[in-house]
Amino acid sequence: MYRTHTCGELRISDINKEVTLSGWSAIVRDKGALLWIDLRDRYGITQLVLDENYTSKELFETARSVGREFVLQATGTVIERASKTTKIPTGEIEIKVSALKILNASKTPPFTIQDDTDGGDDLRMKYRYLDLRRNAVQKNLIFRSNLAIETRKYLAREGFIEVETPNLIKSTPEGARDFVVPSRMNKGQFYALPQSPQTFKQILMVAGFDKYFQIVKCFRDEDLRADRQPEFTQIDCEMSFVHQEDILNTFEGLTKYLFHQALGITLGDFPRMTYDEAMRRFGSDKPDLRFGMDFVDLKSPADAEFGSGVNFVPAGFPVFDGAESVIAICAPGCAEYSRKQIDELTEWVKRPQIGAKGLVYVRIEADGTPKSSVDKFYSPDDLKVWAERCGAKPGDLLFLICGEDEKTRKQLSELRLEMGTRLGLRKGDDFKPLWVVDFPLLEWDEDENRFFAMHHPFTSPKPGDIVKMESDDRNTLKSMRADAYDLVINGVEIGGGSIRIHDRDLQARNFKLLGFTPEEAEAQFGFLLGAFEYGAPPHGGIAFGFDRLNAVMNGANSIRDFIAFPKNNQGRDMMIDAPDGIKLKQLEELGIRVIV
Ligand code: AMO
Repeated sequence: MYRTHTCGELRISDINKEVTLSGWSAIVRDKGALLWIDLRDRYGITQLVLDENYTSKELFETARSVGREFVLQATGTVIERASKTTKIPTGEIEIKVSALKILNASKTPPFTIQDDTDGGDDLRMKYRYLDLRRNAVQKNLIFRSNLAIETRKYLAREGFIEVETPNLIKSTPEGARDFVVPSRMNKGQFYALPQSPQTFKQILMVAGFDKYFQIVKCFRDEDLRADRQPEFTQIDCEMSFVHQEDILNTFEGLTKYLFHQALGITLGDFPRMTYDEAMRRFGSDKPDLRFGMDFVDLKSPADAEFGSGVNFVPAGFPVFDGAESVIAICAPGCAEYSRKQIDELTEWVKRPQIGAKGLVYVRIEADGTPKSSVDKFYSPDDLKVWAERCGAKPGDLLFLICGEDEKTRKQLSELRLEMGTRLGLRKGDDFKPLWVVDFPLLEWDEDENRFFAMHHPFTSPKPGDIVKMESDDRNTLKSMRADAYDLVINGVEIGGGSIRIHDRDLQARNFKLLGFTPEEAEAQFGFLLGAFEYGAPPHGGIAFGFDRLNAVMNGANSIRDFIAFPKNNQGRDMMIDAPDGIKLKQLEELGIRVIV
């Protein structure tokens, strides 16, 4: 028997017991006649103690030869510690060792296996097996495992059936880039790895499964960020005979259940906001509602008090005069920001990632007097109107960005989040979920000069907007709204879904709007259009990003911390060193010729 107990188990009530533990030596402290070893496994740490005065010379020498991360088996008696610690649950006891076996030696690890490790990202990823030994990382993966189990419990209880869909499928032009896999048996042809099981789950509805789910890997060849991995996991679902309301209720229920089970947190009902409102108030379709700082449109806003088309920006400052929009946010308590701090923020918004041309500020002094970077152009009364519109109090600071409306909103949205972070308003343990609803059906792409589906091509327009699909007018088409929704928590898009089109002709019409010829639509999605001819029920669904859900629930920024073997920002697995070249013979078998 390797062990009678784990390293996290023994307490003061176990005093005098004879025990055997197995684990890794985390720390060895050699004080001459006394030697301590912290023995670690996934359950915790237990201190081993050896005293030269009562242990055999041979045993003491064995202990002395132990290095970091050696695998040990120790037998001994549980005794009360002389100097107790409350830092670990086993902190009141230690094991007086009577036998010690080195089960395996270890090279000195390239970084310390501690919560605050000294290892950089790349090193930790190369030696992921050592990184995964760290308590903090193990905790995350255990959390993830529990969350998956709870998800299955909830959905099974709601009558969902888990169905596996294939990983070798067909490349589709919509969405992100596909990862492709060459076919040996069909030379010159390729499978694609699924970006999501979207069409399969819809086919399952045609087949009558009624409620489907799958915790499933998805693959997207897109640029990577903290919240994006090339392979990631979805809680993917689809339901038949449902309206949007049914889906929102079921998945709000799932989210509340998971927060309760995993964190012991009771979430209230989730607010809902239309896409238009989210863009107007926060310049983002995934607003972080942990703090306010709503946008205030100072030029031509529809103002409750003054009516539509009012302009709080009188002519004077040419940059503002020529701008489509001048939008402000109020940073509470920031009037004391130094010139240097404001200059630094100005540079921050001017970085290419944000792209603002500049940043105008208005300080509201303690006596209410406004002091701004545009004092030359506007009277104190003009500025007071801005302050009043923004609800600014003495001691607050307004930031204004101007330009083309859509861009200005995006830029100010970034600044709002940055200010939220700087002011400590984005706390990891404060959870603000939100349903964003009524997304536009289509999105115009200037570069490609065509419409793309905002969610995906299978999303249904709102019933009242279906007639608009016949229009040739771009603005009419842009104004179409979809039965599409996102779940946002703390500014992170956790999930998205929609009611689907289940009528063959309507689906064909949508493909046409998206620039597919009937032949292309048939070649790409003929199977789905075909299935729709055999009694497709009304249906809809949603998918949660499982990695993101884990990260957000733990107040973490990066989903990598919740993935056992993540890729780095270049899409590389540093441990196995993939992607890698393949042998010429393999290429030949696949019928692929490499031209260098
Ligand atoms: P969507 O493309 O919105 O919808 O994806 C659903 C959710 O998956 C997560 N996600 C990602 N997580 C990590 N890395 C990525 N690269 C990544 N891409 C997406 C997000 C997102 O909200 N088939 C539809 C769902 C449906 O309509 O039912 C779909 O895949 O959290």
